[in-house]
Amino acid sequence: MNQRKLTFHIFRYNPEAANEKPRTQTYVVNEEMGMTLFIALNKIREEQDPTLKFDFVCRAGICGSCGMLINGTPTLACKTLTKQLPDTITLMPLPVFKLLGDLSVDTGTWFRNVSLQTESWIHTDKVFDPDAPEERMSNEKALQIYEAERCIECGCCIGGCATANIKPNFIGAAGVNRVARFMIDPRDERDEQQYFDIVGSEDGIFGCIGLMACDDNCPIGIPLQGQLAYVRRKMAMAGWKR
Ligand code: SF4
Ligand code: SF4
Ligand code: FES
Repeated sequence: MNQRKLTFHIFRYNPEAANEKPRTQTYVVNEEMGMTLFIALNKIREEQDPTLKFDFVCRAGICGSCGMLINGTPTLACKTLTKQLPDTITLMPLPVFKLLGDLSVDTGTWFRNVSLQTESWIHTDKVFDPDAPEERMSNEKALQIYEAERCIECGCCIGGCATANIKPNFIGAAGVNRVARFMIDPRDERDEQQYFDIVGSEDGIFGCIGLMACDDNCPIGIPLQGQLAYVRRKMAMAGWKR
């Protein structure tokens, strides 16, 4: 294989530094067999620039911390092989989230706020009894819940969402997916009007313009199109009954 030289144009900015302006910095890296962007970025940090900030934890597409814009597309850097990319690669931080520095953003605060906004916990009047036998549910329901719970909170669906980019309180596809998770769960006793109070607004499902960038960008293939349609259908009915 002819070894390629990869040219990286990387967004640099430290919001904490007084008088610093956002800029792009260029690095050249020799491509290696099986190289991921995780490996390339670490090479840059180890061999060329120890000040470059980016986030990785698991390196296996599980923790959700390495979402970034790779040539304009929001996706996970640890799962992206350089051989899938052209010789010139532009890396930007995910928009919408608070920038910590360079490619590092704070997704945790955003997801925590969405959890509070959507009241992402089981609402029930039942008093917990540790001696009671486990409540049973059908395999079908358990699998639907499992599908929604696979979200790794990487923020890729949010970074690529037009509405989330202009409306700070819009819960995005990840938030709607989370609401769907509790709507499906038979242990949650909220009725559709209570859900409407949470998600039947422009910051919820009715802010979604339905172009499905989120569905295209989810790196682990959560069926966001189906989740958005499910919640939209339920909330349209709830709104009509009001
Ligand atoms: S379909 Fe809705 S949630 Fe998904 S990217 Fe578009 S506006 Fe955002
Ligand atoms: S729904 Fe997909 S793209 Fe969105 S935060 Fe979860 S895993 Fe990431
Ligand atoms: S480092 Fe965990 S998903 Fe990429």
